[in-house]
Amino acid sequence: MNSSFERLKSKKEEAILGGGEKRVASQHAKGKLTARERIHFLLDKGSFEEIGMMVTHRSNDFGLGDQKFLGDGVVTGYGNIHGRLVYVFAQDFTVLGGSLAESHAKKICRIMDLAMENGAPVIGLNDSGGARIQEGVVSLGGYADIFYRNVRASGVIPQFSAIMGPCAGGAVYSPALTDFIMMVENSSYMFVTGPNVVKTVTHEEVTAEELGGASTHGSKSGVSHFSCENEIACIENLKNLLSYVPQNCEEDVPMLPYTGGDESRPKLDGIIPESANQPYDMNEVIKMCMDSESFLEVHKDYAQNIIVGFARLAGRSVGIVANQPSHLAGVLDVDSGIKGARFVRFCDAFNIPLVVFEDVPGFLPGTDQEWNGVINHGAKLLYAFSEATVPRVTVITRKAYGGAYDVMNSKHIGADMNFAWPTAEIAVMGAKGAAEIIFKNEINSAKDPQAKLKEKETEYADMFAHPYRAAARGYIDEIILPSDTRKKLISSMKMLENKVASLPKKKHGNIPL
Ligand code: HXC
Repeated sequence: MNSSFERLKSKKEEAILGGGEKRVASQHAKGKLTARERIHFLLDKGSFEEIGMMVTHRSNDFGLGDQKFLGDGVVTGYGNIHGRLVYVFAQDFTVLGGSLAESHAKKICRIMDLAMENGAPVIGLNDSGGARIQEGVVSLGGYADIFYRNVRASGVIPQFSAIMGPCAGGAVYSPALTDFIMMVENSSYMFVTGPNVVKTVTHEEVTAEELGGASTHGSKSGVSHFSCENEIACIENLKNLLSYVPQNCEEDVPMLPYTGGDESRPKLDGIIPESANQPYDMNEVIKMCMDSESFLEVHKDYAQNIIVGFARLAGRSVGIVANQPSHLAGVLDVDSGIKGARFVRFCDAFNIPLVVFEDVPGFLPGTDQEWNGVINHGAKLLYAFSEATVPRVTVITRKAYGGAYDVMNSKHIGADMNFAWPTAEIAVMGAKGAAEIIFKNEINSAKDPQAKLKEKETEYADMFAHPYRAAARGYIDEIILPSDTRKKLISSMKMLENKVASLPKKKHGNIPL
């Protein structure tokens, strides 16, 4: 073979080996895949094209001159997932711990720039010890170059982060600026400062897993949207998630073929319990209304009083936002406001229509909520719905009380179609609470206050614990049988598919952050 070809072959072999066999073995021993193996499982077979394989760092400080690895600890390029173009970078922990410095950062930036210019998603597979300590400030500069691009790309192309190893210090902020984070259980963690610093500063003893593992960020902080059992599950989840989103903000999500069938769902007619205080599982409602097996829940373990996720409705990708009566009675609170608002904004940014299922008794009262800013966080959801221009349809299944009625995609804040089941109760509050306030004197001076309260409660319930008053005002477009919900949703979304709506000219709004 021509010697120059030989040279290329051996260089490529060197690059593919990353940090060497020993470090690859150590990576495998931790139950982790290498960067290249991850890309192999992520992309369609044979579709990966690598960019920058021969890049090395330029530093000679602290012995780095003797530690030059081809690729500089990150594998970058493009390929397809289910035939659709994506740009990808995968940090290689076997090379200097996947640490990020000038050249490594430049490779990532190049991928991000190409993704922006060509309108396709960016996927980052993160596994890194953070800023390359030997390179000093250029490492910090490299991170900032990435952060800047994350923000510029936000709302233009979808950005995904899979955390598949350590992610510490300022390194966590690039994933945090992307649209979705998924973490691998027991082998990945994210924190601004690790357990040792925590111990020194706050004297708390905490493990890396407790401080910033997948379950912590999936349930307590809400930083992570998905917790995955292992790396393969994480990669499969990424691919599935990608199928619900468009390539960029100018495109729609491809429709899946749908042949139709019997859209009636008789089981829904029996789902609302006799008593208004009894819970039921809103997941069941969602699953019965959406295409079979299509619901992908986001933030499953965080703020479970609200459900958000993607699904398909007659082949069309839709975003679901739903109160969950079986968790905290489906109240809105700080965390559910944040969770719901972020999801609504993602869907709106990327042309994904919204379907809202509503059964909400109001906002959660208490000092904890007030002191933690439920006013601001609740306002986020209100803001997000109000500014959304995608098709928006609401179904009120039972309670729609107080401010929460307004917030949950009401007609008043721009919803396109509002349906209510006959079981809907649309009022300022529940009948008992309302009677206690407006008939207080009458009840207190009655011979039998309990009987009087009951009488007044019934009076209020007759007046408001149904959807007809709201329908009389046009706040509800149609009162429908639960069994017809899927049919109505499909027809509404078809009717709204060419919707054109825009916001007043502005630089950007000022969402209550
Ligand atoms: C250079 C690093 C490195 C780093 C790890 N390595 N982190 N090299 N810069 N930040 C190297 C190690 O020297 C080692 O090299 C190899 O990677 C594997 O590391 P180990 O420690 O052997 O692995 P492990 O035991 O699994 O521990 C992984 C780790 C630990 C927990 C990530 O390496 C660690 O704590 N690293 C430092 C983390 C850190 O403080 N980063 C800076 C955060 S501040 P050899 O040659 O032995 O294989 C930050 C600021 C960003 O990131 C600010 C942006 C705004």
